[in-house]
Amino acid sequence: PPLGRILSLADMEAVARKVLSHKAEAYYSSAADDQITVTENARAFSRFFFHPRVMRPVGKCDASTTILGYKSSIPVFVCGAALAKLGHPLGEVNIAKGATTTSIIQMVSSNASMSPAEIIAAAAPSQPLFFQLYKNVNDAVAEKRVRDVERLGYKAICLTVDAVVPGNREKDIKSPWVMEDLERGSPKLHVEGEGTEDGDAVFGTAGALIVNDDRDMTWEKTIPWLRSVTKLPVMLKGIQCVEDAVLAAEAGVDGILLSNHGGRQLEYSLPPLEVLYKLRKQRPDVFDKLEVYIDGGIQRGTDVLKALCLGATAVGLGRPFLYAQSAYGEAGVVKIVRILEREIITGMRGLGAASIKDLKPEMIERVDWEPL
Ligand code: FNR
Repeated sequence: PPLGRILSLADMEAVARKVLSHKAEAYYSSAADDQITVTENARAFSRFFFHPRVMRPVGKCDASTTILGYKSSIPVFVCGAALAKLGHPLGEVNIAKGATTTSIIQMVSSNASMSPAEIIAAAAPSQPLFFQLYKNVNDAVAEKRVRDVERLGYKAICLTVDAVVPGNREKDIKSPWVMEDLERGSPKLHVEGEGTEDGDAVFGTAGALIVNDDRDMTWEKTIPWLRSVTKLPVMLKGIQCVEDAVLAAEAGVDGILLSNHGGRQLEYSLPPLEVLYKLRKQRPDVFDKLEVYIDGGIQRGTDVLKALCLGATAVGLGRPFLYAQSAYGEAGVVKIVRILEREIITGMRGLGAASIKDLKPEMIERVDWEPL
């Protein structure tokens, strides 16, 4: 369908699912075990309802904000997600260009299907990009990676901490790679080795991608190490409970992304929106020490606004950007940002908020009745 007919992120996903190869669809959409967490990530938003305020001037309404000091047109960023080329020949470049056009920040995956240099070259020089780091088990290799991306001009390091083992994503494991997928996917990916000696396929794509990652990271060792090799701000991606949010604040990182990796890692990890809600209730002091973000299951402007009312600085989206660039390339990326922007502004006006700082915890409640 013409792009003008796409009204929502759900419409975009429906188009993408028609054009993606079997493997790409399986890899992008898969989640751990029985898809409980991936489903609940999205459902969590339906338990929160607004207290809209009226008779407040919203004729002028501004949804722009800053993330780690960098301007963003809306409080949304692209989460680092691997292998964008599986969905479209221009892959991550589509996202870099679309993010530049719409002035939002792209977090580039350690497992992107293009090099960090190629991706940053596609963005305007003034457009900030962040780098998502899977820390190599070898400190020297990891250090080189960090120094390389800093030199290339990436503006923050987002260390992923929820992926010490690949999640059990059966849909991905069951779906075979064909030659065409391999050409489009990552050159690093050696999937021939997939499976055990007795022939059981157990790893899937994620297993092939994160083989050399550090499983022994600690608060005491890894954060000082990262600080010692870079001056860039540090975000931890994959904080999943209040206790670890507090430890992250004590460790002095600049931001935490409350995330369960889009439900792809530990099944029954709480939905990030619920973790955010608990953090706001139990430890509001943490929000004064660092920026808090969430990702997982965000589809609508109102979802974004709920997270912001609860104290998040911004939210990340993973699959929606992969789907959008698969369906329409760069234009698809621009389109979903415009859709979100319109939905966010509409929601802000309905709430009586003329700017991001007007979004407050008093504007939202968690209901105890079961929504539709
Ligand atoms: C991811 N995610 C991810 N995270 C990360 O830190 N490094 C990575 O390489 C990837 N790769 C990746 C691939 C695919 C196909 C998906 C769907 C996700 C997780 C991602 O950054 C983010 O946390 C989730 O995608 C957020 O959930 P939604 O928006 O997809 O529901």
